[in-house]
Amino acid sequence: MKISNIEFPDKPLFLAPMEDVTDPAFRLLCKRFGADMLYTEFVSSEALIRSVNRTQQKLTIYPEERPIAIQIYGHDPASMAEAARIAEEAQPDIIDINFGCPVKKVAGKGAGAGLLKDVPRMLEITSAVVNAVKLPVTAKTRLGWDDDSKIIVNLAEQMQDCGIQALTIHGRTRSQMYKGDADWTLIGEVKNNPRMRIPIIGNGDVTTPERALECFNKYGVDAVMIGRGAIGRPWIFEEVKHYFETGENRQPLSFEEQKAILKEHVVASVYWLDIEENTPLEIVADKCLKGIIHSRRHLAATPLFKGIPNFRETRISMLRAETLHELFAIIDSISI
Ligand SMILES: Cc1cc2nc3c(=O)[nH]c(=O)nc-3n(C[C@H](O)[C@H](O)[C@H](O)COP(=O)(O)O)c2cc1C
Repeated sequence: MKISNIEFPDKPLFLAPMEDVTDPAFRLLCKRFGADMLYTEFVSSEALIRSVNRTQQKLTIYPEERPIAIQIYGHDPASMAEAARIAEEAQPDIIDINFGCPVKKVAGKGAGAGLLKDVPRMLEITSAVVNAVKLPVTAKTRLGWDDDSKIIVNLAEQMQDCGIQALTIHGRTRSQMYKGDADWTLIGEVKNNPRMRIPIIGNGDVTTPERALECFNKYGVDAVMIGRGAIGRPWIFEEVKHYFETGENRQPLSFEEQKAILKEHVVASVYWLDIEENTPLEIVADKCLKGIIHSRRHLAATPLFKGIPNFRETRISMLRAETLHELFAIIDSISI
């Protein structure tokens, strides 16, 4: 499978863009475990144009991450074109447009999934971005606004006509937000539409190797994108790949190995958010760190600690810990 001239291995697995989750610390970990394509968190076109600091930071990409896309969102075609040009300077491999974010502060302002209600503008934005940059442009969207407007089959053709080089479809409507089950049947319909030439990336609720394989086999997608299934479990990519290669589930990493990976992620987050590359960790081990607070989502979501008897108190203290000493002492004390 190829997106423009970027070649991917058979049955590629993409890490979904996730705000506040897919920063370099997490992306690099997923890459190590086999994610074939990475995305930044979504970046506001308006904030990018105003050079808001935190937004600029979201453009940071490392050579080991390639291929990687910078994802942008917004409501205004000219601003989106300008933002795409700014993003292009950060030299990603792809510019991806977010037409899928359902949250009020985005969709309510006519950006993200809000554009599913205004297809002409959505296409205008797509063309403006495609024409603004030399890099390949891709888009990520949902099935439609609500149950009565699942427009994706037509929309995919229209977006292809605007010049996007791949389309990711999350199998939910905007109204569903993240509720209910993702419906892959329409994703399959888009893929099987003989007029579609661009790769279709399927997304939604893939959390097991078996389901990932089923999505490739049953719906024919060119790539499967995994989001929440990787939070607190970046090794999922390796598990899925092993299953593809052998037809069997891989011997799980040991409890201690998985704990070590989660700790490594905490440390990487601290280096990303709190301290310079070569600073010895000891210097900040008793400080309250942003990287720790940032890692809580992963520690809360990881399947690793599920089912441990009487874990509630430990879980609460783990998710309240503010320093590395405190947090690692708690994690080290957990056994099965
Ligand atoms: C915390 C969180 C943040 C997200 N942020 C983004 C984002 O910035 N851009 C985007 O296109 N989708 C975003 N999404 C949606 C995911 O990319 C994905 O489409 C969705 O979670 C469904 O896939 P999954 O079931 O594998 O998680 C986000 C999802 C979550 C849970």
